[in-house]
Amino acid sequence: MKSFFVGQLSALEEEGFFTAKLPDGKEVLVLRCSGSLYAIQRRCPHEGAPLEKGNVWNKMIRCGQHAFTFDLETGEGLNCTGYRIECYAVTEKDGKIFLRFDGAPAPKVRFAALKMIF
Ligand code: FES
Repeated sequence: MKSFFVGQLSALEEEGFFTAKLPDGKEVLVLRCSGSLYAIQRRCPHEGAPLEKGNVWNKMIRCGQHAFTFDLETGEGLNCTGYRIECYAVTEKDGKIFLRFDGAPAPKVRFAALKMIF
């Protein structure tokens, strides 16, 4: 499994996030919540709203469009049967954040640290 640098941990506020673009064009949302790092698909599987416009709390993210809520660790839809988000392996070492992929080239990173709305 390969690891690719996507950003500095210092760019994430306590509950901040940034986006990265994968080689296949998918956008990933990297975020910090309750002291943990997560990397998930950026777009909601319902109608494609950007999930960073929603709310994050207690290891869950709620889409700001229609309130579908997902578990950040499993990707499971918690109030929307049949929907789930893709979750990516993310690690941090020496203040650097890495996503892990099997044999994929490095993702392009669009770095835009913003603060989540609660
Ligand atoms: S677009 Fe996210 S819940 Fe509808």
